[in-house]
Amino acid sequence: MAKDPVRVLVTGAAGQIGYALVPMIARGVMLGTDQPVILHMLDIPPAAEALNGVKMELVDAAFPLLKGVVATTDVVEACTGVNIAVMVGGFPRKEGMERKDVMTKNVSIYKSQASALEKHAAAGCKVLVVANPANTNALILKEFAPSIPEKNITCLTRLDHNRALGQISERLSVPVCDVKNVIIWGNHSSSQYPDVNHATVATPSGDKPVRELVKDDVWLNAEFITTVQQRGAAIIKARKLSSALSAASSACDHIRDWVLGTTEGTWVSMGVYSDGSYNVPAGLIYSFPVTCQNGEWKIVQGLPIDEFSRKKLDLTAEELSEEKALAYSCLN
Ligand code: NAD
Ligand code: LMR
Repeated sequence: MAKDPVRVLVTGAAGQIGYALVPMIARGVMLGTDQPVILHMLDIPPAAEALNGVKMELVDAAFPLLKGVVATTDVVEACTGVNIAVMVGGFPRKEGMERKDVMTKNVSIYKSQASALEKHAAAGCKVLVVANPANTNALILKEFAPSIPEKNITCLTRLDHNRALGQISERLSVPVCDVKNVIIWGNHSSSQYPDVNHATVATPSGDKPVRELVKDDVWLNAEFITTVQQRGAAIIKARKLSSALSAASSACDHIRDWVLGTTEGTWVSMGVYSDGSYNVPAGLIYSFPVTCQNGEWKIVQGLPIDEFSRKKLDLTAEELSEEKALAYSCLN
């Protein structure tokens, strides 16, 4: 029997990421090729015409799984009945800006959209915040939508996770699908800690630690880390626009794994509400290694953290605490 359609909200749908993301959702990349969807697309009035153009293209593409499109500048209409909300709307970083610089503009959007989601989304709606500063926008959304369970509010660090997999794959000339269990700790910013201490590569004689295969701790502890931390800025420099296709694809990965589950023996990175695991202060949205089952994520516990890593986990937590304070000062 055909499944009932799932309603997926994409805010900022007339923007770059939105334009890459909505066809992926309509093709089943996010929720599976047997899952019909109804797309809800929100943007602001100056982008209404462009948004309508995206809707026209979705109709023209005749996606078999797409059972309806709501394209609107009304936040209540956009949020009504949605099961999944991908929050992309906001202002992107330009060359030379840190993600913190976009804070003032974006946190106030997340405060106001929190209440629309809380009041009008379907029960159990899963929220993924993509717009920067992603962790802090997600935290503001959580704090101003107190009736949405904190486990349902997450932010995107899967792009950084995928970037880390990509760097290892390039370095070792192995297929990216053979690399697993990297971790992005902390903030989706240049303070994040891409950690390969538990990562492995599938080989004909079984999984081997990345460190054993790379045989270059200097590269792994320095250049690898900064390349992943700075990849967003490198893309902006090259494209004069921030990443879009990789962000859209990673957003699909994030939701797909959250809803349909992670593969046995594999974890992924998600920005989630900290419960104090790994001595990360509770009350931050912080990226952890997680596994997902039955629509719920769980932080992977018990991984040994060496002194080098500890410092990096703490540094990115400190930045998030500062961002939280700054966000509240912007809202006051
Ligand atoms: P963009 O400027 O192309 O699109 C953003 C869209 O949001 C625009 O159409 C704009 O009109 C719309 N918008 C602005 N305010 C809105 C509001 N209040 N409600 C609804 N829509 C609104 O930007 P983009 O390149 O698509 O990037 C979107 C966001 O995602 C940026 O904040 C960017 O920094 C961030 N980003 C995050 C990641 C990540 O990994 N977390 C990766 C790439 C980009
Ligand atoms: C990215 O990581 O590509 C995005 O967050 C865009 C940015 O500002 O770096």
